[in-house]
Amino acid sequence: MKIAVLYGGVSKEREVSLSSGKEIMKALQKKGHEVIGIDFHPERLDELLQLKVDLVFIGLHGKFGEDGKIQGLLDMLRLPYVGSGVLASALAMDKAKAKQIFKMNQIPVAYSEAFTVSGKETVEQVAETVENKFKLPFVIKPNQEGSTLGLTIVKDKEQILPAIKKALESDETILAEDFVKGRELTVPVWGTPNNETALPIIEIIPKNEYYDYESKYSPGGSEHIVPADLDEKLTKQIQTYAVLAHQALGCKTYSRVDFILSEDEQPIILEVNTLPGMTPTSLFPDSAKAVGIDYEDMVEKLIQLSTS
Ligand code: DAL
Ligand code: MG
Repeated sequence: MKIAVLYGGVSKEREVSLSSGKEIMKALQKKGHEVIGIDFHPERLDELLQLKVDLVFIGLHGKFGEDGKIQGLLDMLRLPYVGSGVLASALAMDKAKAKQIFKMNQIPVAYSEAFTVSGKETVEQVAETVENKFKLPFVIKPNQEGSTLGLTIVKDKEQILPAIKKALESDETILAEDFVKGRELTVPVWGTPNNETALPIIEIIPKNEYYDYESKYSPGGSEHIVPADLDEKLTKQIQTYAVLAHQALGCKTYSRVDFILSEDEQPIILEVNTLPGMTPTSLFPDSAKAVGIDYEDMVEKLIQLSTS
């Protein structure tokens, strides 16, 4: 098959995407596909169209890659691609909107509120509202971002304003969210629509205080326990939530659903990643490996799911 891999791109997760893209391309080549890699910028659209590929593998993350925008362009060009379409991608990227849908589907979420800093409301006013409404510690993060960029666990009042300013570097809307202390879990989901299954749950033990950018992408930055040490009932419940979350947003082919398991063993969904990291330290490939599917076979299965 002739496959274009879009990687790199223009988001803050560009470096991650360069790494995902490289691995995906290697795997596709090993499987005998004709692979054309494109470090993707909008001006390369013509080139993509002229290549006459059979399929596009979007190895991008974050803004303009994971949020439905590139998916919309590819739809217009009638180029089939791997993964979720416009609506699911946009919803998953918008944490506040996604959480409303999770709640409607009885998937537990942490309490949060979104604030948009516009001409009307200043950063200082938002900071004051957040301070009055949330009990320390709490989390401030951009509403739309990936790889934990722009996130702060706020532990004292002085951190509120800088935390909001940091989150605003990624998005004009920020989320303040109750901090849930617990274990970090993630669940890859894949399959054809309405026939998805969850892969083994991974527990992440970050070397840093939490699973931040550095823990995610430095070799040895975190330990992955797969399958996570959870009893059968809890395992099933979390995997069921993961598949439900994927379906509730209307995701396609694959995603990775992140949770915190609170100290009283309540799984709390954090988000759905529609283009999960595929780097050498990434989670989705690790979970597939635990059921005997190596990286190349995992990528090939994603191709098969997309073309079946
Ligand atoms: N946003 C990164 C790539 C992930 O979720 O894996
Ligand atoms: Mg994410």
